[in-house]
Amino acid sequence: MSIAVSGPIDLNGKKALVSGAARGIGQAICQSLAREGADVACLDLLDCAETAGLVDAQGRRSLSLVCDVRHKEQVQTAVDRVQEAWGGLNILVTSHGILGDSRQPLEEISEADWSRVLDVNLRGGFFLLQAAWPALAAAGGGKMLLLGSIAGRVGGVLAGAPYCASKGGLHALVKWAAKRGAADGILVNGIAPGPVATPMTVDEPYRDDMIPLGRLGQPQDIAEVALFLVSQASNFITGNVLDVNGGMLMV
Ligand SMILES: NC(=O)c1ccc[n+]([C@@H]2O[C@H](COP(=O)([O-])OP(=O)(O)OC[C@H]3O[C@@H](n4cnc5c(N)ncnc54)[C@H](O)[C@@H]3O)[C@@H](O)[C@H]2O)c1
Repeated sequence: MSIAVSGPIDLNGKKALVSGAARGIGQAICQSLAREGADVACLDLLDCAETAGLVDAQGRRSLSLVCDVRHKEQVQTAVDRVQEAWGGLNILVTSHGILGDSRQPLEEISEADWSRVLDVNLRGGFFLLQAAWPALAAAGGGKMLLLGSIAGRVGGVLAGAPYCASKGGLHALVKWAAKRGAADGILVNGIAPGPVATPMTVDEPYRDDMIPLGRLGQPQDIAEVALFLVSQASNFITGNVLDVNGGMLMV
């Protein structure tokens, strides 16, 4: 299969599934996807009614899916529901995640602390990718976007070991999946945000002066890049984890 040459962002007729959709970056991504024409299934542990309302307000279809991504069968059920409701899936965005305790010294990290973060961030990301894969393949290809982190690149600005390891794992999973998906037209990329002002970081001591562009990221800063990476505007990019951090990390 060869993928069409890149064109402008236009998601009309596309069906997307977004995890971590109840708030923060995931919510902003849902709203932006709908703005560009996509129907959006909003998945989260929390109720997604508010996000679904934002999608509906753009004149697109929404679905709200309560799901704990740590459980493979719940993830499969959620993907099945999208397929039953809309008859296909073109886009997966994983924006779920937990930070864990950023201040914990190495010797205090318990097995439970380690597993809690890895299970949500990495295991959950894998379950979503695995469950959505056949749907995208059946649609003749599609786009996957996994939210990584600057933490997975630099060993944490402030984040703890489990979070950094989970995000590094997701970056590697992007590349593994991009290699396997290319032949089926499944393009897989990631975004590695720097600090973004969301409920996840509200209690963390990030400061505007840590960032060359002079402010923390806003969810919309990530959502607009996400649109590019799940649209035909990026049809020649796969296996890439894009740094979006206001200049905090330049590689
Ligand atoms: N905010 C930042 O500074 C920042 C920086 C780098 C990367 N990220 C990543 O971006 C993504 C979005 O982060 P955010 O800042 O919007 O965080 P957030 O805490 O505002 O949103 C995360 C969402 O994930 C959901 N979630 C948590 N555990 C879940 C589970 N087991 N099953 C289903 N949903 C679950 C939460 O309910 C929440 O709605 C995450 O992957 C995060 O690691 C965030």
